[in-house]
Amino acid sequence: MRSIAEIIQSRRSIKKATEEPISKETVLHLIEIASFAPFHSKVEPWEVYMMSTGAQKEKYVEAVVKANCEKQEEEQKIRESTMAKIGTAPITLIITSKIVGNEKKDFEAIAATSAFIQNLQLLGWEENIGMIWRTNKYIFSPLFCEALGIPSDEKIIGTLHLTRFTEVKEAKTRREITSYVHEL
Ligand SMILES: Cc1cc2nc3c(=O)[nH]c(=O)nc-3n(C[C@H](O)[C@H](O)[C@H](O)COP(=O)(O)O)c2cc1C
Repeated sequence: MRSIAEIIQSRRSIKKATEEPISKETVLHLIEIASFAPFHSKVEPWEVYMMSTGAQKEKYVEAVVKANCEKQEEEQKIRESTMAKIGTAPITLIITSKIVGNEKKDFEAIAATSAFIQNLQLLGWEENIGMIWRTNKYIFSPLFCEALGIPSDEKIIGTLHLTRFTEVKEAKTRREITSYVHEL
């Protein structure tokens, strides 16, 4: 069994998806464990929208078209480029956080949801499931949320595109600890 330190250090964002299937049951299990992230509200602030079928991917692509398309002649191009980007990953999750319009509460909700997402990334890595956390511009569009039926009191914190992988890139170098740890 790998240590937490090893999993944290070896995890990479995996951009290039493969079609190798990932079972929904496995992902649901990981989500349940990830939900032990810390949170500072009455109920956990995250919601998870899962997408795996062709019809769900098409729905996602159409939502991107609604959010991004200003001219009708661009529609097909956006459709194709989005499907090329997101269509291969066997499972995509949209993770949202409930927003109540209170600065402190919303800050805490987004922070807790980010902890939940990182738990999921690490748990996935342990099971050889890679993913990339994306924050494309369209996730900020009410049109995108509306098209997917995501309630207006939820903010998308990221989309996670899950995939099996064979190739693992070198880690991006991190800053020297002395450059960001400061004595007060
Ligand atoms: C909040 C957040 C948003 C991100 N959004 C994107 C994105 O939109 N597109 C992308 O390619 N990577 C995105 N990433 C992944 C980062 O690029 C990646 O984590 C970073 O390059 C470090 O690489 P590593 O995850 O392999 O350590 C995001 C990561 C975080 C934490």
